[in-house]
Amino acid sequence: MIAEQNCIPLNVNKSNSLSENLLEVHRLSKSFPGVRALHQVSLTLKPGEVLSVIGENGAGKSTLMKILAGVQSADSGEIFVDGKKTAFDSTRAAMDHGIVLIHQELNLCDNLNVGQNIFLGREPQKFGIVNSREISQKSEEFLKRVGLSVSPKTIVGRLTIGKQQMVEIAKALSVDARVLIMDEPTSSLSSKESASLFELIESLRDQGVSIIYISHRLAEVKRLSDRVIVLRDGEYCNELIGDEITHANMVSNMVGRDISQFYSRTPHKIGETVLKVNQLRTPHWPQHSVSLKVKAGEIVGLAGLVGSGRTELLRSIFGIDRPLSGSVEIDKQTVKIRNPKEAVNHGIALVPEDRKQHGLIIDLSVQDNIGIAGLQKHASRFGFANFQKQKSDTEIMIDRLGIKTPSDRQISKFLSGGNQQKVVLGKWLSMAPKLLLLDEPTRGVDIGAKQEIYQLIEKLASESMAILFVSSELEEVIGISDRAYVMHEGQLTGELDRSELNEESIMRLATNTAELKEAKHNG
Ligand SMILES: Nc1ncnc2c1ncn2[C@@H]1O[C@H](COP(=O)(O)OP(=O)(O)OP(=O)(O)O)[C@@H](O)[C@H]1O
Ligand SMILES: [Mg+2]
Repeated sequence: MIAEQNCIPLNVNKSNSLSENLLEVHRLSKSFPGVRALHQVSLTLKPGEVLSVIGENGAGKSTLMKILAGVQSADSGEIFVDGKKTAFDSTRAAMDHGIVLIHQELNLCDNLNVGQNIFLGREPQKFGIVNSREISQKSEEFLKRVGLSVSPKTIVGRLTIGKQQMVEIAKALSVDARVLIMDEPTSSLSSKESASLFELIESLRDQGVSIIYISHRLAEVKRLSDRVIVLRDGEYCNELIGDEITHANMVSNMVGRDISQFYSRTPHKIGETVLKVNQLRTPHWPQHSVSLKVKAGEIVGLAGLVGSGRTELLRSIFGIDRPLSGSVEIDKQTVKIRNPKEAVNHGIALVPEDRKQHGLIIDLSVQDNIGIAGLQKHASRFGFANFQKQKSDTEIMIDRLGIKTPSDRQISKFLSGGNQQKVVLGKWLSMAPKLLLLDEPTRGVDIGAKQEIYQLIEKLASESMAILFVSSELEEVIGISDRAYVMHEGQLTGELDRSELNEESIMRLATNTAELKEAKHNG
């Protein structure tokens, strides 16, 4: 059934006739300058079906969804809704047919409140003016449905990404979607938030809503999907139904190569302490102080639930937020880091969680983004930028990280989500830091590229870089850490050696049961 590592030709489509399909897509193609994003892709969707679309970074998933939701138009191909040929020239037109897309990169207005975002462009009015009270009342209902307990008056920019994601879903529910497209919805949700999202998806499906689900987390895809289609390099590759939806089948169809050696740990030498954090108190959790250290060549995980204070800790170390008290030592010298520039001068790099806000200048080219951090490093004696060096750095990074881009001059916003993440990584790596702080480094990255990033982290550690990484994926923390700290509500609840790392030990500390007193006692 599953052709070894090859795609099955296009027209072997196992789903059936027009009439029972809510949505049909015939031979859709789309190109951008230098990139063939989609080539003759077809798919069908029945009412009340959960269809997942999987594929590597840059395979064309988001592009396909944007076309279905009226964000972009196809170059050729046809779309049928309820058997009638349609074309959407705007998201509004798609919405009128009940098709709503929740974007991979969140699409909310940071400076508006939650309710205003939910009803943006569709504000209920009273005597010609926006009725804020009705917005609040109705928003509360949708917030409740997604299980988010924030006031509709909260400014969206103040919410964590996880919560912003839930607002997006509430917004989609508010337009009464028949086809709800979710592009990597769980990439920044906690496991608890994800679990409630899955329940929501299942209940929507039972009400006849169709879901198109995109995720790099194959366990989720397996759990939720009635059917899975695989895209590879912009083409329809294969379809898996029911019990064909296994991890192994999905991987071999997506990647086309064996990646069984997922975490390949080779022991390497651990050196002197590079980072020592003493009793640091962050503005977010002023009641707690955190102490930890990371040695040269050591890969240290920072585990915990979403919102446990890990990102805030990295931000304070890196000088984005000013700590309230405590100190940071680099190479055994106490240093004052008042801003990111000073952090960089001390050889620290931070790859942030929210690449759109803090990592990537979306309107600059790949080369300019990767070059930014390195420019200072390569500036000539008189402070002139060394553009030649910048270019070769970029080429090395594109090659090393397998960034899929037509050229190093491509504007970053045109890259697929996972490839943008790799650009952010490349930007900081080109600086050759001695301490690398990574916040959810594999978020949105496909399974093949994930393995490449793990291998890269390994390699950097073997070259004596000290690495502290935040991850919400337990498997990843267990797979690559030499040692891990676990946080819960702003405090460290424990420290685990590689031999002690397992899902249970991490979760116990992350949810702060039993062990806390003991950890405090020892620490
Ligand atoms: N507006 C655009 N301009 C130029 N190229 C684009 C544009 N949008 C997408 N592309 C390119 O089209 C290809 C498909 O991108 P798409 O975002 O659909 O991938 P994806 O499967 O969603 O990947 P990911 O898993 O990384 O999110 C990529 O090579 C991407 O760089
Ligand atoms: Mg995408």
